[in-house]
Amino acid sequence: MEITKDIRYIGVNDHELDLFEGQYIVPNGMAYNSYVILDEKIAVMDTVEVKFRDQWLSNLEAALGGRKPDYLVVQHMEPDHSANIMEFLKVYPDTTVIGNGKTFTMMGQFFDLDPDMKKMVVKSGEKLSLGSHELTFVFAPMVHWPEVMVTYDSKDKVLFSADAFGKFGALDVEEDWACEARRYYFGIVGKYGLQAQKLLKSAAGLDIQTICPLHGPVLKENLGYYLDLYDKWSSYTPESKGVFIAYTSVYGHTKEAVESLAAMLEEKGCEKVSVADLARDDMAECVEDAFRYDRLILATTTYNNDIFPFMRTFIDHLTERGYQNRRIGLVENGTWAPVAAKTMKGMFEKSKNITFAETTVTIKSALKDDSRAALAQLAEEMAH
Ligand code: FEO
Repeated sequence: MEITKDIRYIGVNDHELDLFEGQYIVPNGMAYNSYVILDEKIAVMDTVEVKFRDQWLSNLEAALGGRKPDYLVVQHMEPDHSANIMEFLKVYPDTTVIGNGKTFTMMGQFFDLDPDMKKMVVKSGEKLSLGSHELTFVFAPMVHWPEVMVTYDSKDKVLFSADAFGKFGALDVEEDWACEARRYYFGIVGKYGLQAQKLLKSAAGLDIQTICPLHGPVLKENLGYYLDLYDKWSSYTPESKGVFIAYTSVYGHTKEAVESLAAMLEEKGCEKVSVADLARDDMAECVEDAFRYDRLILATTTYNNDIFPFMRTFIDHLTERGYQNRRIGLVENGTWAPVAAKTMKGMFEKSKNITFAETTVTIKSALKDDSRAALAQLAEEMAH
């Protein structure tokens, strides 16, 4: 596949994967992207996941048209992109491998390196001429590992963006970009908003016409749309107005309360109400929705003098990703000694710029007039 006259796509689609990175469901598979820049010198941009050695090497061979690569640029050492470095060098042993100091430390940890391997250790901002194409390597530490760097080709105005601007989903399946890119961003890069912001600032100084990420489609049209979403996500700015209600329920009483709260919010004209059962819905989708909307309502039961495990896991996912700048409402259920609301609130103690609704709803087993009234009050506070 031709990206520009000189740049070819040589990546692969994975439809056999059960969980990406050991935890994320990928109903539409996953793409591991890799590219070749054909100039006087030839550079290969990253490799692919271990299972796809043969397919990737054959894509590469076809793109090379009988020539040999001069460079292999390793932008990221996570195995979904680096697993085939040694397999590549078996076929093309004269290639110079390009990375930074951290790249080669990690490479030595993953593989037994040949001491004669040709390597080029680059610094951030360093340039490499391939002939008419000049590459600039820009470090992007923690987007998503410390050794990550992105590469800018000033001739074709292409940014090879590593994991940034990636998404779940193979490239032979049509789907909305933002939904799976958001779930990917908050699941995988979400903790490193500050670092993603730094990368966006570096990118703002470049004339970019095409973004070539390591996952998901090559982005060519309407780049402002993608850059704007990335700016919102990485600055923890809510993307949409609305309420996300995340709940757990054991016998259905908390669920009933949540359903009635959702109806009340809608009645009051709330812009958008999204509801998820943390025990049954995809956790990464729930994390994504919590970051997407500007308000969050958490409803759970007291359990072992704590909160229901799925809710604890969910809040941990949020706080470890720097959840901030949001308003939260709490609903708790407990047949005796309810402590869920206090426990949930305590879990956000170190989070920045979180405000809580004045009303906390306590249900003692099942909804009664007093808890219904409290729900209505919470709906009033959270509807806008
Ligand atoms: Fe796609 Fe961080 O690896």
